[in-house]
Formats: sequence, C-alpha cells, structure tokens
Amino acid sequence: MMETELRIAAAQALKSIARNELIKQHIKGSEDLYPLLFHAAKRFIVGETKEDAVTEAIELVSRGYSVSLECIGENIGDEHQCVEAKNEFLELIHAAGKLGQQSTISLDLSHIGMTVNEELAYQHLIELAGEADRHGMTIMISAEEESKKDGIAALYKRVSESYPNVGITLQAYLHRTEVDLKAIKSYSGRIRLVKGAYQESEEIALPRSEQLRAKYITLVEKLVATGREISIATHDELIIEEIVQRGYLRKPNMELEMLYGIRPDLLKKLNKEGYRTRVYLAYGKEWHLYFFHRLAEYPPNMYRVLADLIEPETDFRHSLY
Ligand code: FDA
Repeated sequence: MMETELRIAAAQALKSIARNELIKQHIKGSEDLYPLLFHAAKRFIVGETKEDAVTEAIELVSRGYSVSLECIGENIGDEHQCVEAKNEFLELIHAAGKLGQQSTISLDLSHIGMTVNEELAYQHLIELAGEADRHGMTIMISAEEESKKDGIAALYKRVSESYPNVGITLQAYLHRTEVDLKAIKSYSGRIRLVKGAYQESEEIALPRSEQLRAKYITLVEKLVATGREISIATHDELIIEEIVQRGYLRKPNMELEMLYGIRPDLLKKLNKEGYRTRVYLAYGKEWHLYFFHRLAEYPPNMYRVLADLIEPETDFRHSLY
C-alpha cells in the first residue's frame, strides 16, 4: 500500500472506532484502559470537569485569547440525560460568566434533545441562550452529520428570532453549504466555518483536497461579504496564510479559532501579532468520539499517542502561553 492510501485507510479505521459504541463502552468500563487512554486524550481534551475547562479558559483569556467551551456529548436518546446535559451547560455558563464576551458555549443539539425530539432541543436551547445573554455570552451550535442538517437549521432559525447571541457552524466540505449560507445570511449570531469532521460519502461532501481548500476560501469571501461575526475555524496553514494575506483577519468581525492541542504554535504566533484568536476547549467524560476524530484527522497523531501513553508530556498545554 502507498503511504497516502495507508493514511486514508488509517483515518477511516479511526473514524469507525470513533463511532463504535462497543469499543467506547469497553474503554469507559475498563479500570486500566480508561486512565491510560485519557492520558493521551488530554492533549486534546482540557479535562473531565467544567472546573478544569474554566481554569484553563481564565488563563487563556488573561493571555489575550477568547475561548469556546464545550461539554462533549452527542446523540443522546434519553430525555433525562438531555436535561442533565442542559443543566451542565447552565452551570458552565454561570462558571464561565465572569469571562463574558470572551467566552462562547459550544454545543451539539443532539446532546441537549434533538435525538429525542426537536421541541425538547428547542426548549433547552432557548433556556441556554437566555442565560448566556444575561452573562453577555454567546452560544455556538456545532455541525453534526449531514442527515441532521435540516433539523439543526430549523432550530437555529427559530432561536435566532429571539436570541441574536446564538450562532451556527457551517461545514465547507458539504456540497450544500453555499445554499445553506444563502438561507441563513440574514439571521443573527456568529458563523463558524469548519472543513467538516464526519465520514460522509462523496455524493454529500468533498474529501480533504485542494478543491476543498479552494472552496473553503471562496466561502470565507462570501462570509466576509455578510458583515456578520465570522470564525475561521481551521488549522490549515495554507488557508490561514491566504486569509491573513488578503487582510480578512484584520477586520474587527473576523477571528481565527483552533481546537485545543492542535497547532498551538501557530495560534500563539497569530495571537502575538495582534490577530483575534480563539481556543476551543472541550471537556468531559464522553471524550471517546472527540479524541478518535482528532486522531483520524491527522493519523501521524497515533505516534504521538503511543509516546504519550508511555510518558505523557506535561507541558504541551503551555505552548499557547
Ligand atoms: P485539515 O484536516 O486539512 O488539516 C490541516 C492541517 O492542520 C494538517 O495538515 C495538520 O497540520 C493540522 N491538523 C489538523 N487536524 C489535526 C489534528 N487532529 N492533529 C494535529 N494536527 C492537525 N467539525 C464538524 O464537523 N462540526 C463542528 O461543529 C466542528 N467544530 C469545530 C470547531 C473548531 C473551533 C474547529 C477548529 C474545528 C471544528 N470541527 C468541526 C472540526 C473540523 O471540521 C475539522 O475536522 C478540523 O478542524 C481539521 O480540519 P482542518 O481545517 O484543520 O484541515
């Protein structure tokens, strides 16, 4: 097998592991495996509790970054667990409230009710939006599988009618995204542009490619024209260079957002150069899917994981400081 084919095969295997409920339950229930893998996952996950996340957020805000905070979870089919998740986000808003405008709460709608029914998700979303608003904070809705796109768009439209502090994530890899962007152009809230993390067929999405990179930049042009708050959420150095060179990142409504633990060197450099930078901090015990997605996006991370399993680096989080 050629190296590229090997990488693609590894990425697909890791995405399958990410989705595998049996493997997840096995890891969660194992007294040996859970702590061992969590050591490695800590490169990308700020901790297991909101206190871990807020402590790191305060440190980062003091260094000029903004933050997004997420309690990881999705596809919850049990109503009681969705209420618990909503309550966790409410407590997170209270705990992070002192950071005000510098902090955003990010969430998957399928974590707070969409898998049960859309009305439950809507009720939870407006409750969170109202509480965030009272703290001067914003809520960002994450993008999930393409099959959930219409449900997510409908909920976003409904909540936007009352709460301008709620924004949405668009995935550049989906063929439908330009049309989706036209539909939401006049709503409120920040728009975050990501490439897309889920395993989708080529009828639905572009794979990682030059074509996807070009499409991402075209979408940024269209987003700039909306005048909305925009988050450029990528670690792709070529895209970032292009956007910096075009002067987009100097606009007051534009920011660059990266996931905690990925390219902190690059984010720190841009932060020091005075660009608006945001770090996405994910926490919680449900880190399985999130962790394996990060490995799938960049299979060489497997080497890093092996090294971290034996001797976890202790100072990597400080590479943003
Ligand atoms: P790409 O995957 O092409 O990577 C470009 C380069 O970045 C790589 O060559 C490597 O150098 C570096 N890199 C990328 N990933 C890495 C990793 N895991 N480890 C080490 N280096 C890595 N997706 C989604 O479907 N729904 C969502 O709601 C969100 N939300 C979200 C918020 C934020 C703030 C970010 C930054 C990303 C997301 N994503 C997401 C994930 C997103 O869709 C995408 O999978 C990742 O950002 C990786 O894609 P890049 O744009 O970095 O490009």
